[in-house]
Amino acid sequence: MTAVKTKRKAKKKTKQWNPNIVVFACNWCSYAGADTAGVSRIQHQPHFRMIRVMCSGRIQPGFVLKAFEKGADGVLVSGCHIGDCHYIFGNERALEQFEKTKNMVRLLGLEEGRLRLEWISAAEGARFAQVINEFTDQVRELGPSPLATGNRKH
Ligand code: FES
Repeated sequence: MTAVKTKRKAKKKTKQWNPNIVVFACNWCSYAGADTAGVSRIQHQPHFRMIRVMCSGRIQPGFVLKAFEKGADGVLVSGCHIGDCHYIFGNERALEQFEKTKNMVRLLGLEEGRLRLEWISAAEGARFAQVINEFTDQVRELGPSPLATGNRKH
């Protein structure tokens, strides 16, 4: 076997599995926080798709369950810090919805670590990157979602 083939084989073996992560982000804070991370050229893991909603209060359990059904290995729900919601109490509603979602996810037999809620402001680009990195590693550790088999695109 040539040296190149051996090197390729070794590289293939060490290739890391990358999870499919869905991030729900409110327009005014968390989405802008992701934008700040990008504009500031802060490096973070790229294995996520972002769904922008006007307010985290809009994120109902059905949205999260649908994401898992469609192949997500992890779902991050994010919004403005408590007291900063542009619709006054939307994130307080998001918190209530998140508790319901967590219970449903548990009932489906999924690990709690596949779901996370974070408040990220528009100025917190570094925090957005940190949360994405931590969450990606956490989901990677859990492995592929049992619900995602068959719906996985890669
Ligand atoms: S506008 Fe961001 S949580 Fe309501």
